[in-house]
Amino acid sequence: MRERPRVFASRRFPDRVRAELERSFELEVHDSVWPPAREELLGRVAGQDGLMLMLTDRVDDELLDAAGPQLRIVADYAVGIDNVDVEACRRRGVVVSNTPDVLTETTAELTIAIMLALLRRVAEGDRLIRRGEEWIWAPNLMLGHGLAGQVLGLVGHGRIGRAVERLALAHGMEVVHTTRTSGAPLDELLATADVVSLHLPLSDESRHLIDAAALARMKPSAVLVNVSRGPIVDEPALVEALRARRIAGAALDVFEREPEVHPGLLGLENVVLVPHLGSATEETREAMGMLCVEALRAVLLDGAVPPNAVT
Ligand code: DGY
Repeated sequence: MRERPRVFASRRFPDRVRAELERSFELEVHDSVWPPAREELLGRVAGQDGLMLMLTDRVDDELLDAAGPQLRIVADYAVGIDNVDVEACRRRGVVVSNTPDVLTETTAELTIAIMLALLRRVAEGDRLIRRGEEWIWAPNLMLGHGLAGQVLGLVGHGRIGRAVERLALAHGMEVVHTTRTSGAPLDELLATADVVSLHLPLSDESRHLIDAAALARMKPSAVLVNVSRGPIVDEPALVEALRARRIAGAALDVFEREPEVHPGLLGLENVVLVPHLGSATEETREAMGMLCVEALRAVLLDGAVPPNAVT
């Protein structure tokens, strides 16, 4: 009997996805909520035909060499594939797949959730109560701002940006957007938006797109929301802008040196911090896993190119 292809998965993931992988492959799993150390990862990918890896695993020449020439697919358990050297995979004929579409609404929803948590001071109020501080209803207690009538500036207008736009319009916001090729110029958007929200992939071009100069262009009453990738924002510059009240607040789902969070953010009340939860619902994480399964099956069992291949 022909041996089943070997697949390694670098983290614990939903049971249904695991059962599907076990049905088709000789599966090995780094069965932990923590990533394997680099040396362990390099050892475990050796001899595998397919890999299901996470955004915390760097896929580069070193890893591809360690895996060996039989490797045919890297299924990345994310839509953003900045952890993968796609060119290096392409050179070796290794297919790379990602998880588009199934997380669009979920991520857009979290964008609105942390935007509201910041503007309506939900997280701040929760902290106040947990600290056991005295409080009573008062006309001026913890006043925030509603979404209606505010201008939302979307930096990036792909699938997730457009889904955020739809939800924002339903909340009565005005929406402007910028992309590399269309919409308002970035400087103009930064100068006019009440909420600047980032929805673009991390690349050499977008790294530190929001730096001290960009933050200085924002209105002092404006806030920044980031659910895309941490390094798009220069975090020390953001801390400085928040401390100096050059902008009014920030809601962050991602961090420049994730999972480290700049210590300067931790003590600020006008900041909402969430541990990279954009796509974190049971349904969506299962759907993302099933896209990985389908891609692995297409390449390793059918010799086909999956629809979610990026190479
Ligand atoms: C992604 O998919 O890129 C998110 O950041 C994690 O779901």
